[in-house]
Amino acid sequence: MSILILYGSETGTAQDLAESLRREAQMRHLAARVFELDEYDVGNLPSEDVILFVVSTTGQGEMPPNMRKTWKSLLRKSLGTDFLRNTHCTVLGLGDSSYQKYNFAGKKLFRRLAQLGAKMMTKGAFLADDQHEIGIDGAFIPWKQEIWTGIRDLGIFEKMSEQIDPDVEIQTKYRIVTVEKGVEEESEDAEFSESDYKALRVASNVRVTSEAHFQDTRLVKFEIPAESRIPMTYLPGDVLMVRPYNPEETVKIAIEALGYSEEMLHRTLKVVKNDQFSKNPPYFLFGHRTTLLTLLQRYFDLQQIPKRSFFEMMAYYSKDPSEKERLRELSSPEGLDDLLDYANRCRRTTAETFRDFPATSKNLGLNHLFEILTVIRPRAFSIASAPSGSHVELLVAKVEYKSRMADRRRGLCSTFIARLKEGDEVFCKIRAGTFRFPTPDAPVICIGPGTGVAPFRSLFGQRSQISPNSTGFLFFGCRGEHDDFYFSEEWNKMECVEVVAAFSRDTEKKVYVQHKMGERARDIKKMLDSGASVFIAGSSGDMPKAVASVLAQIQGGEWTKKAEETGRIQYETWS
Ligand SMILES: Cc1cc2nc3c(=O)[nH]c(=O)nc-3n(C[C@H](O)[C@H](O)[C@H](O)COP(=O)(O)OP(=O)(O)OC[C@H]3O[C@@H](n4cnc5c(N)ncnc54)[C@H](O)[C@@H]3O)c2cc1C
Ligand SMILES: Cc1cc2nc3c(=O)[nH]c(=O)nc-3n(C[C@H](O)[C@H](O)[C@H](O)COP(=O)(O)O)c2cc1C
Repeated sequence: MSILILYGSETGTAQDLAESLRREAQMRHLAARVFELDEYDVGNLPSEDVILFVVSTTGQGEMPPNMRKTWKSLLRKSLGTDFLRNTHCTVLGLGDSSYQKYNFAGKKLFRRLAQLGAKMMTKGAFLADDQHEIGIDGAFIPWKQEIWTGIRDLGIFEKMSEQIDPDVEIQTKYRIVTVEKGVEEESEDAEFSESDYKALRVASNVRVTSEAHFQDTRLVKFEIPAESRIPMTYLPGDVLMVRPYNPEETVKIAIEALGYSEEMLHRTLKVVKNDQFSKNPPYFLFGHRTTLLTLLQRYFDLQQIPKRSFFEMMAYYSKDPSEKERLRELSSPEGLDDLLDYANRCRRTTAETFRDFPATSKNLGLNHLFEILTVIRPRAFSIASAPSGSHVELLVAKVEYKSRMADRRRGLCSTFIARLKEGDEVFCKIRAGTFRFPTPDAPVICIGPGTGVAPFRSLFGQRSQISPNSTGFLFFGCRGEHDDFYFSEEWNKMECVEVVAAFSRDTEKKVYVQHKMGERARDIKKMLDSGASVFIAGSSGDMPKAVASVLAQIQGGEWTKKAEETGRIQYETWS
């Protein structure tokens, strides 16, 4: 008898949590199977006793791609209201409250399961929020506590223990096997073609901010190889998901902390799954024959701030009494503030944390890495080029800042992109973004300060080719006319858009997009009255609210609220 854990995930977070639940179930003497939703047969759901769902929301309040088939099946009218009557279910939704359709996937799934007669184990879906001070753990931890108690109270899993048993040997998800010299590589090419990530070659990578400006922003052009052209077509508003690798300096810190020799790092290895339920490893990323060095560069996230589960698993594997105790403190519910102080507030990386626990780190088995570390998440970037079959461009601002740590902190993917050289290859995939643009002749008002301008360069680039007489406004904001006014020379050549720029540091008084919109209120009103739609992209900080407030001043609060609901005002914002 075992419980079922199903996840729907776009960038891997829900999958990590599902795997962490499987480990914790094992430590409670409870067998658990983990599947991504679309790999599980919906027809078998009614025969399950307990199902834990972990699902993220993607796009604009959408289900992640690997659960869309299942979601469609679950919506079938032919499924009666008693379809899941014998099943106990619970849902953890993953989302980000800076998005308008916060945690829609989790909320919708919860409602549908209840309609299908499932016995819901919690009152509503538990909603994890990226914006929470401790991230998704803010909901994951209380949810876990409630469901373990709930499952035990069902009384159907006799061997289940109330407390975690630290002596249980956890079966790792994957294991590493050494490939003996001379062994032929099997033909496993099918795995490669299954991945929807394609290797794109960098054609150019140009800094578009002035050398004097603190911000390093890049316009990066990738070539779409001829054989990938059809699956990689795109429209304005689409995003490119990019899979970054760890920076060299972070890999170096981890290697030293983990004590790996050159021979270990370069030995030929193969990663294989340990049970029939796990997904195959992403061979497209690191190869069927790989090395430990490649795994550390491309697969394990060594740069992210370690989560509570990192400390939990380090404590579990540690043989050093004092380090074990400290790791336990940091992973305990009482140690939350300590954890925030040690890891989150100073933005310590996982590699640096290995360094702080040398005895434990140097004694970790290779297979343990799969349980301790999470996998590098791909990042989304709004496509900045007009649709093209041969290339795709991104406008990327490098994230770099100071913290209490001695070395400057750097965003993983934006730094990876900033360092790309012509000819480098990067795994990417295209997927729909949030915006649903109207027909190319319909009037639009776009607000895109900073890199928020990217989707509008794609939109107006396309319009200037196919609908040059259409009307559009673009409110753009940046620090200075000569520092970071992206594409300033291109806009003049486009008939279909009037660009109004706000420079926040060129004058004594700071001028932002919302101020420029206020100045042009009359024109905006005229366009809105003639049916224009509004699109807002960029930082999810104060800007979207300030813009909405100007629109409310122009058209009234009710109008603005309704326009947001009906999609006449749309947002694509990020933190
Ligand atoms: C739909 C969508 C479209 C996007 N389009 C673009 C785009 O066109 N161009 C673009 O540049 N980005 C875009 N982004 C953002 C992009 O996906 C990444 O989030 C961004 O590049 C940072 O990723 P990173 O891996 O470099 O940083 P990470 O390693 O993920 O670190 C980022 C984190 O660092 C922290 N941080 C950042 N600055 C500071 C600071 N000063 N102090 C303390 N902490 C800080 C924040 O917690 C932030 O979440 C988009 C995001 C989405 C969701
Ligand atoms: C491109 C993109 C779109 C997103 N859209 C939403 C959204 O509409 N609503 C929401 O609550 N969260 C949204 N999120 C946040 C994710 O749900 C959240 O980061 C989650 O932890 C990701 O889980 P996953 O890695 O399993 O996909 C979005 C994230 C990305 C990268």
